[in-house]
Amino acid sequence: MITACWSLKGGSGTTVVSAGLALSHQRRFGERALLVDLAGDLPLVLGMPEPSGPGVTEWLAAGSSAPPDALARLEQRVGPGLTLLHRGEGDLSAASADLLLQVLTASGRTVVVDCGVVVPGWSVSVARQVAAEANRSLLVTRPCYLALRRADVLPITPSGVVVVRESWRHLTDRAVAEHVNAPVVLTVDVDPAVARAVDSGLLVSRLPRRFVDGMRAVA
Ligand SMILES: Nc1ncnc2c1ncn2[C@@H]1O[C@H](COP(=O)(O)OP(=O)(O)OP(=O)(O)O)[C@@H](O)[C@H]1O
Ligand SMILES: [Mg+2]
Repeated sequence: MITACWSLKGGSGTTVVSAGLALSHQRRFGERALLVDLAGDLPLVLGMPEPSGPGVTEWLAAGSSAPPDALARLEQRVGPGLTLLHRGEGDLSAASADLLLQVLTASGRTVVVDCGVVVPGWSVSVARQVAAEANRSLLVTRPCYLALRRADVLPITPSGVVVVRESWRHLTDRAVAEHVNAPVVLTVDVDPAVARAVDSGLLVSRLPRRFVDGMRAVA
C-alpha cells in the first residue's frame, strides 16, 4: 500500500504528516514501514544525519541497469521497523516513476512517500506521478485561503485531504473539502510539542502521544 503526501504550498506540514503516518502505522501494527523522500527534508525532520551517497534520484537515473535489490540496499534505518529512502542529489523532473512504483508495490510493505509541493504547470515529475498513481493520494493543507485558492486548478485529484489545523483560522474542514472536492480524511492540530520535537530532531524518540493517536484514522 503506497500513500503519497503532497501539498500545493510550501510549509503546509507535508513532511511532518508523512513521517507521522509512517511512525504511527509502524507503532500501531508493528509492521515494517518505509518512508520515501522525494522532497528532501525527511532526514532532518527525523533527526537523522544529512544522508550521503546515492538515493532515489541516483537509482532512477541508473534505470534498468541497476540490480533488482539496489533500491532496498539504499534504505537507512530510522528506528525499529521503519526505514528511509533518501532523495539523493539528482533531478526528478525528467524521470518516470513507473519502475519506482513497481518496486515499492512489490515490497509488500506500507510505504509513505513525501512528494513535496505539486503544482500545475510544472513539468511532469516523479513526485507528481507518484502523487497521481499511489493507492492513496493525500493533499496536505493548512485551512488557509492562499493555499486553497491553488486548489482551483488541481494538478491531480487527491483521494483525501489532511488538514493541518491552526486554531486561529476560520475555514472549516467542510469548506476545505468542498473547495478541493475531496473528503477531509484526517485533521492534525498544530501542536507546539510536535514543532519542538521536529526542531530538536527528536520526532522519532519523543513522538508526542496525541500526535500518534490523532493519526489513527489514516495510519
Ligand atoms: N502538526 C504540527 N504541529 C506543529 N508544527 C508543525 C506541525 N506540522 C508541521 N509543523 C511545522 O511547520 C513547519 C513546516 O512543516 P513541514 O516541513 O512538514 O512542511 P512541508 O509542507 O513539508 O514544507 P516544505 O514545502 O518546505 O517541504 C515546520 O517548522 C514544522 O515543524
Ligand atoms: Mg517538506
